[in-house]
Amino acid sequence: MEQQKIAETMRELVGAANVVNAAADMSPHLIDWRKRHTGTAACVVFPRNVEQVSRVLAHCNANGIKVFPQGGNTSVCGGSVPDASGNSILLNLGKMNRILEINANDNSMTVEAGCILADLQEAALEADRMFPLTLGAEGSCQIGGNIATNAGGTNVVRFGNTRDLVLGLQVVLPDGKVWNGLRTLRKNNSGYDLKNLFVGSEGTLGVVTAASLKLFPKPRAVATALLGFDTVDAAVQAGIALQSAFPGELVGLELISQSEFEISLRHAAKARNPFQHTPLWMVLVELAASTGTSEALADRLTEALEAPSETGAIVDAVIASSEQQRGDLWHIRHSVTEANGREGMGLTHDIAVPTYRIPDFVAQAGAALAEHYPMAVPVIVGHMGDGNLHYIAMFTHEFWAQVPDKMRMQRDVSHLLYDIAAAMGGTFSAEHGIGSLHVEEMSRYKDAQELAMMRQIKDLLDPNDTMNPGRVLPPASDGLR
Ligand code: FAD
Ligand code: LAC
Ligand code: ZN
Repeated sequence: MEQQKIAETMRELVGAANVVNAAADMSPHLIDWRKRHTGTAACVVFPRNVEQVSRVLAHCNANGIKVFPQGGNTSVCGGSVPDASGNSILLNLGKMNRILEINANDNSMTVEAGCILADLQEAALEADRMFPLTLGAEGSCQIGGNIATNAGGTNVVRFGNTRDLVLGLQVVLPDGKVWNGLRTLRKNNSGYDLKNLFVGSEGTLGVVTAASLKLFPKPRAVATALLGFDTVDAAVQAGIALQSAFPGELVGLELISQSEFEISLRHAAKARNPFQHTPLWMVLVELAASTGTSEALADRLTEALEAPSETGAIVDAVIASSEQQRGDLWHIRHSVTEANGREGMGLTHDIAVPTYRIPDFVAQAGAALAEHYPMAVPVIVGHMGDGNLHYIAMFTHEFWAQVPDKMRMQRDVSHLLYDIAAAMGGTFSAEHGIGSLHVEEMSRYKDAQELAMMRQIKDLLDPNDTMNPGRVLPPASDGLR
């Protein structure tokens, strides 16, 4: 009954066409992309503009109704679906998807939060510019979700995380007030940098409704290669050398283990192995430049690879000679998440350590898994240039089905790996965020003072805990106040 009433009120606030509450209409929004997290809600609300978001939040905040914002629902840490209470609303930004301005002279673009990332990349290219945020989910994820999670992806090594691409934001605060911080200035030291408070806050402090973003020159020349190595150490050393050799041009430096590569080949449609024998480790390298030709850039890359190939550090290499080949290589890389889901039950970890410590991490993690979980296959893919590995402990579906306490096993495996990363000065969450899945790790790994300051900020901006309750921060009852 109460749920019906909430839905009716929402219809009054934003119009009947923008609210659904039938089970069939809500269900795609109540389960995440990987189908591992589910939730319930009184209704799903699709606001059309900032005024509607403001009205909805003001009402919910005043009436104790929790609000779960949702973008493209591609979170891999249970951030995008509501909790099980049922009396909350899911606020999906998908209908706020207008590009408000592209200013090539200013190298900026101002867009609504619900724009799909791939559409923004496309629009930038049409304006002879580039928006460099790139990730496997780009056909579904929304820029608001990217901002809320400070998404990383495969171009971070050159262009930074989403945070580095945001110039200004418009945010609706939990009480419905609107902060209009849409500006495109490159310099603005006039007080606290509020936009950076909201980037990466995962919808716990307010709803991002629009953003001003940085654009870059459109690349004229691109060179892509897949390099093979016998050891992860050789792969990391080659990556570090390439970073020095191509400081302005290196845009991607991705590490893939043989196990991950073969899973992707097995399950991704039309994936083709460019090697006769898959190397134990591979690095996908991409260079881009706004002048010159792709052929000249590929020649320079080939030249740089000669010495390590002669010493045997690089054991095999494929340099893409067409856009099709380049696409094929990236297709294998970008298909990993979907392919892993088909392969088995992969416990995914999003750790980061200093790049040069990746070989230590891989060795220690492999030894720990072999000792405690010998049935798990280490499957590794990641953004090597950022020290960020998705270290996946892969179990067969058959094995996983008979694990009695799945939650506990997942937590134990994760802590084994996170402890190793933490001892190297690393993190348990590099780019995916905390969502609902990693809240416990916040208490376990974050500094108490850091957590206390986060809690103070949350209490200040969202004293009623209206926004995304149970996400990011451990409950206040943990004694963190
Ligand atoms: P959702 O999943 O819908 O939401 C994520 C979080 O943001 C939730 O907490 C939600 O409440 C909040 N949120 C969403 N929109 C708003 C808004 N407008 N205002 C306030 N809060 C909001 N991540 C990476 O960092 N790098 C990768 O390389 C990468 N690759 C991926 C590949 C695949 C195949 C998949 C499925 C996921 C991948 N991800 C990656 C994870 C995910 O896609 C990103 O985190 C993405 O940024 C989430 O965007 P979304 O629109 O889907 O947000
Ligand atoms: C990737 C996602 C899982 O890098 O972050 O493919
Ligand atoms: Zn990633």
